[in-house]
Amino acid sequence: MPPLDLTADEVLTTTRAVRGRLDLDRPVERALIEECLRLATQAPTGRNRQRWDFVLVTDPAKRAALADLYRLGLTRPRQQVVRDGVDRGDPGRGRRITESAQYLFDHLHEVPVLLVPCIRVQGRHENASHVGQANTWGSVLPAVWQFMLAARSRGLGTAWTTPHLHYEREAAELLSIPYETVLQAALIPVAHTIGTDFRPGPRTDVDKIAHWDGWQAGGAREGLPAHSVSSAQLSSVGSSPAPRRSGRRERTRPRPWGGGRRRTPVLLPRR
Ligand SMILES: Cc1cc2nc3c(=O)[nH]c(=O)nc-3n(C[C@H](O)[C@H](O)[C@H](O)COP(=O)(O)O)c2cc1C
Repeated sequence: MPPLDLTADEVLTTTRAVRGRLDLDRPVERALIEECLRLATQAPTGRNRQRWDFVLVTDPAKRAALADLYRLGLTRPRQQVVRDGVDRGDPGRGRRITESAQYLFDHLHEVPVLLVPCIRVQGRHENASHVGQANTWGSVLPAVWQFMLAARSRGLGTAWTTPHLHYEREAAELLSIPYETVLQAALIPVAHTIGTDFRPGPRTDVDKIAHWDGWQAGGAREGLPAHSVSSAQLSSVGSSPAPRRSGRRERTRPRPWGGGRRRTPVLLPRR
């Protein structure tokens, strides 16, 4: 499929976390994924070592098991997630994200391709220091995002997720990833999108986050939370409303996000 007719700026501003508009019925061609990977691997890595690997899961049984680990990670995380107190999201948007995320929770196993980006390490100790972490994650996450941008420009939708990492060892066993020397970075569902029009997302104004010549010299001024899209940003990209899925699929599982009974995910054997 030829890339969509989007400018670089349009790709950068309209690559959304796609959940409800993932086309679960349309297979994703292997060649398209490989094209995105070729573009992704132009991303930088420390000393150009390119320690990355990309596991693409299409087997239905493996997708189902991986989706269960995702659900387990969301509903029964192994470690408590520490919040730093900074949250620039707005509450209304939070509710919309929750609804959209619920859809992904319910349907993740149906997404045609689940991508698990990985990075090789000498051993897990390599990440003990802050600089070690920065070097490791800095050498794979840019490629992951680059993959997602390339996917967007080809009519594919993606969403960054991490909860399955609470059960990384189980995922490694499932996918035969050598756990001690390969770190998983994320779990990215990949599918064609239903429609291709996406809009810029709400983001913090730049003058609230830019710190010129030092932290005190402006930026992040008292006013948190800050959010919203600037009008210039909105007007620069096509803004026709996104088509809704219009009830093609019923919600099949209870909500893990609050409100309603929780689904107990299938428990895989643990070590
Ligand atoms: C580190 C990280 C973890 C995320 N985890 C999840 C997740 O578990 N489930 C989910 O549906 N979206 C997840 N997201 C997607 C975010 O919710 C999304 O990027 C954010 O709301 C902005 O969405 P937008 O670009 O469509 O505005 C995650 C994103 C990041 C960067």
